Amino acid sequence: MSEKQRLAVLISGKGSNMLTLAAACASGELPAEVLFVASDRGDAAGLNAASGMHIPTLLLPYPDKLAAEELLASEIDRQRVDWVILAGFMRVLSPCFVRRFDGRIINIHPSLLPSFPGAHAIRDAWEYGVKVTGVTVHRVDEQIDHGPILAQEAIPILAQEGIETLEERIHAAEHRLYPATLKCLFDKKT
Ligand code: GRF
Repeated sequence: MSEKQRLAVLISGKGSNMLTLAAACASGELPAEVLFVASDRGDAAGLNAASGMHIPTLLLPYPDKLAAEELLASEIDRQRVDWVILAGFMRVLSPCFVRRFDGRIINIHPSLLPSFPGAHAIRDAWEYGVKVTGVTVHRVDEQIDHGPILAQEAIPILAQEGIETLEERIHAAEHRLYPATLKCLFDKKT
């Protein structure tokens, strides 16, 4: 049996994607383990949730980005992390950090990139009035919400649909697409 992939998951908030991935690791659906969950925010609910799953957590200093990235990079190296998984991490990683872990940083974004990058993608798509939006999983490059696309799932916006139900459907799609895409990536099928 091949070795498990070693993951660090970065969050800033609720951490529902992180929890989905941790559960997929625990069930064996994803041949991986979450070595630690890092957050730039001490009040991120996902930190408690990670602790509840007995996953070590790391609070990154804020707003000193250089110090935060140095701490993160040293933990990644020390724990021999294979993949840095962004799951609602709201800070932009420096080009230096991205180059250091080139190709090994993955992000999930709640729109069909390159449409609607940024922090309010679901609302931006809904307000624009597009008929189809979705979810993208991509490798991270030096630009924001940008880099080679690994997978996308399209989600039609229903007539008269409110933003709350759209958000729920997008998050449900994220929770399907992220573990499935990482599994393909780890199996070298994408
Ligand atoms: C998700 O919509 C993700 O696509 C975006 O931030 C949100 C994080 O949600 N990057 P959660 O913290 O995983 O619940």
